[in-house]
Amino acid sequence: MEENPKTQPEGKPQKKTVDRRDFIQKSLLIAGGAIGASWLLEACSKSSSSTPAASGPSVNFTIDLSTSQYSSLNTKGNYLYVSNTIVARDSSGNFVALYDVCTHAGCTISFNGTNQFPCPCHGSIFDENGNVVQGPATSGVKKYTCTLNGTKLTVSG
Ligand code: FES
Repeated sequence: MEENPKTQPEGKPQKKTVDRRDFIQKSLLIAGGAIGASWLLEACSKSSSSTPAASGPSVNFTIDLSTSQYSSLNTKGNYLYVSNTIVARDSSGNFVALYDVCTHAGCTISFNGTNQFPCPCHGSIFDENGNVVQGPATSGVKKYTCTLNGTKLTVSG
């Protein structure tokens, strides 16, 4: 008579058996956990290793605020993009220009209409000097110099 492995006679050490279904379920759980863990590690390392330096590229351009393409900057609270630069007119009427690429993961930053530049992707906020007000970004974006001459606004730095 064949011995049923699940019903061992008394006195014999009990063998631990794993049926096929248990084995597959546990294997899938372990594999899923490993994939999840590696994804988390990659996500963490990605955000820290892909963080570019605070400084952006050098720019030097002039826009004419009397043209329809740029006239929105005659109104406080407005902003536009030129050559990877966000040019804003803050609530005090000052022109502010920053490199528009968020240092966290590269999304394009926006302007809140007053004096801050939020990133729509993960919530970072930069001030008018390009400094981080709120993370996850850990380094600032480059600030450019704005010089108004008549209706011509030169952005450089
Ligand atoms: S890209 Fe993540 S906060 Fe800007």
